[in-house]
Amino acid sequence: MSSPAPVRLAKSVSSWSERSLAAVWHPCSQMQWHPDLPLVSIKRAEGPWLFGHDGARYFDAIGSWWVCLLGHRHPAVVQALREQLGELDHVMLAGLTHEPVVELSERLSQKTGNVLGHAFYGSDGASAVEIAIKMSAHAWQHRGHAKKQSFVCLAGGYHGETLGALGVTDLAGFRQPYEGLLHPAYVVPNADARQALPGEDARAVAQRQAQHLEALLERCADRIAAIVTEPLVQCAGGMIFYDPEYLRQVRALCDRYCVHWIADEIAVGCGRTGTFFACEQAGVWPDFLCLSKGISGGVLPLSIVLSRDELYRLFLDESVSKAFLHSHSFSGNALACRAALAVLDVLDHDRVLATNRLRAIRLSARLQPIFEHARVRHFRQLGMIWAWDVADAPADFSRRVYRVALRHQLLLRPIGNTVYLMPPYLLSDADIDTLGDSVVALMREVLR
Ligand SMILES: Cc1ncc(COP(=O)(O)O)c(C=O)c1O
Repeated sequence: MSSPAPVRLAKSVSSWSERSLAAVWHPCSQMQWHPDLPLVSIKRAEGPWLFGHDGARYFDAIGSWWVCLLGHRHPAVVQALREQLGELDHVMLAGLTHEPVVELSERLSQKTGNVLGHAFYGSDGASAVEIAIKMSAHAWQHRGHAKKQSFVCLAGGYHGETLGALGVTDLAGFRQPYEGLLHPAYVVPNADARQALPGEDARAVAQRQAQHLEALLERCADRIAAIVTEPLVQCAGGMIFYDPEYLRQVRALCDRYCVHWIADEIAVGCGRTGTFFACEQAGVWPDFLCLSKGISGGVLPLSIVLSRDELYRLFLDESVSKAFLHSHSFSGNALACRAALAVLDVLDHDRVLATNRLRAIRLSARLQPIFEHARVRHFRQLGMIWAWDVADAPADFSRRVYRVALRHQLLLRPIGNTVYLMPPYLLSDADIDTLGDSVVALMREVLR
């Protein structure tokens, strides 16, 4: 039988989008909105810029879903990957180990003052959350508290889309179709600083809202393994900012009621809120800490759960049945770990977080006209996150802003009526001014 004639691939500018619509099921997308909603095909990326096949360029103002930490194709990360590829690509992590995974685990532990002494590896953010919740429940079993199998999350919290992670996510749009498949979690009110009553500051909101957690723990701690929180900013819930005091209260309550605290720093870690770990701003450490997204510079999927040594030791036994048998094929992938080490080198040696403070001042100043706009509410900034809410926004606001933003050479994806920026860190003054001016022009157009 003769082999079929090779398919001739069209190379016209529009063809990648068309072929994608015909062959790719895109994430977090209503496919029917395309192609009316442009599907942009990207050929190349560099620093904060994405370059389309159509010759247009777009400022990646949301770091491609918050993963692009330094900027696209950072030379140090590219070089590290080239060198690593010349030596070791991947090897399974059961029974074997390698330099990048050891070095990365040591360096991350050091960043917690060695409080979180062991690193377990997953692939994506959701897998890290799955790992942490399984570790927590399993650790309680080891300590003779097998009934502790429930979890607490904050209202508006988001921890990923796999079933375990979705079970501790409180966003109806993501949960609803799968409700019957999920292990229900307790949801407590969050400490959103926007809920301040007259005379209250964000700290007072945190203290007030922590009482809900305390009341729950008082009633149900015997069934609760852990509370899962996104420290300081609940990102996917609409960039909900809250005071570090809430984390101090969580730590104290978890200690008092014998409950673990899982800090999901998948979005807010790696300096996004101004300190390497967001928890540092509260001066308290969780029992488990999840990292992903920016840790590999946004180049390769990598996730990590850091845990306390006393919890790690609960799993040690002659019997395999006491071990944590969870695994992913790509756990601790050598290339991804090497990329992460290059990211840590850049952060440490180039004083990136210190310089980010100056970058943030410059961008905030540039965004001042938005802050002053009559329809803008709760303009907020922390580290390298900016967000504001738009009053009287139509139902299709997010879609509309996405579309208009492309015309302003911006990649933006508002969450409901909340517009936010999470740009890559390594922005020159000119980049910052371009970003600020483009966002101001965009907002003037959409708020006209
Ligand atoms: C706080 C948080 N946790 C978990 C996740 C899930 O990560 P992934 O999409 O890599 O599974 C996300 C993703 O946005 C997140 O923001």
